[in-house]
Amino acid sequence: MGRVVGANVCLGTGTTQRLGWPAPEEAGGQVELLYDYGPSLLPQGPMTGGMWRYRDLLPLGEGEILYPLPVGGTPLLAPPVLRRETGLEYLFLKDETRGPTGSNKDRATALVLEHALRTGASTVTCASMGNVATSLAVGAAAAGLQAVVFVPVGVNPAKLRLMLLAGAKVLKVREGYEAAFRLSRAAAREYGWIDRNTGVNPMTLEGKKTVAYEIWEQLGRRMPDAVVAPVGDGPTLSALAKGFREIVECGGAQSVPRIIGVQAEGCQPLKLAFERGGIPEHAEPDTIADGIAVGAPVSAASVLRDVRESGGAFVAVPDAQFLAAIKRLAQGAGILAEPAGAAAFAGTLAALSQGLLEPTQTVVALVTGSGLKTPEYLRPAGRAHTVSDQLAEVEGALGLPT
Ligand SMILES: Cc1ncc(COP(=O)(O)O)c(C=O)c1O
Repeated sequence: MGRVVGANVCLGTGTTQRLGWPAPEEAGGQVELLYDYGPSLLPQGPMTGGMWRYRDLLPLGEGEILYPLPVGGTPLLAPPVLRRETGLEYLFLKDETRGPTGSNKDRATALVLEHALRTGASTVTCASMGNVATSLAVGAAAAGLQAVVFVPVGVNPAKLRLMLLAGAKVLKVREGYEAAFRLSRAAAREYGWIDRNTGVNPMTLEGKKTVAYEIWEQLGRRMPDAVVAPVGDGPTLSALAKGFREIVECGGAQSVPRIIGVQAEGCQPLKLAFERGGIPEHAEPDTIADGIAVGAPVSAASVLRDVRESGGAFVAVPDAQFLAAIKRLAQGAGILAEPAGAAAFAGTLAALSQGLLEPTQTVVALVTGSGLKTPEYLRPAGRAHTVSDQLAEVEGALGLPT
């Protein structure tokens, strides 16, 4: 059983400080749990059990897992068509659209709710651009808990419908996501709810990091050369980096892969800060990719640190390339993605064309969110033909020789 032996906090300046354990509730930055690392914590045997197979590297005591939904164990696809088309011989897509609500948020939700169930909590809260709240609403419903979620007024309507369908209490905040975040946190403190806010509850990072362990195992216990991840608030990337660091700490690899962060051209505070140095400036988001439309990322400092330490880079991609990536993922890999979900693949192509990736490298792009929630961005490539019950009409419609 893995044992948490301490925690680090990544402060706004990007410096890491050791904390006592248990860590104080307000540590002043992203809290990262530390374990007594060693080879015995690495998973053994066939890859079963979803994310719980990594429980030796999760802050869980003994006992059966109570959370009822299966999470993790998502496929690492080797897409032959996209490999041929892109020239990336060893491209892999980590298909995180396969969770219960079709996004990588389901991993963080599962661990937070497992804790809630173990501690007898009844209400959980978060702020969200859409996917986190959908994930928490559905997960809480399955676990028999009440979710209270705070979203911006302009939240995607299909995601909102799913939250309400699952029975969450939904508060639409006029001032937008950052205000929703503050309000959710204040409500958690005031009413004693479990705070699942991304980047501030260390469990969210712990749940999301399991994707790195899976990639390493699925590649035959080897690290890829580079991993490409979308960046909104940042915990997806930061958790990925933590997972890879921990594999190295446990002796499972020599070094971590390069990490490439992808932002939207219309919201790139971290890319700009990475290149200019200093603290990110607040951005006014202007992108269709709601999951990464975050003007003041919560985990900015740790993301900048993690990309820098991995020898990685940032790319920024215009919305048109997200739409093109959605189409290519559907037609070249059979994956249905939303704009933020397709961002890493779009960013992979941008990084390749900028010389940040080599065609012979093993590159993993995360596909973080399903397009089934965003039908408005699934732009048809062709049109359907209406025919009568006659083969002649089929021939006419398809242009087949008669
Ligand atoms: C589909 C999708 N991809 C990426 C992200 C960005 O994740 P993070 O906020 O952890 O950077 C989100 C966040 O909501 C998302 O919904």
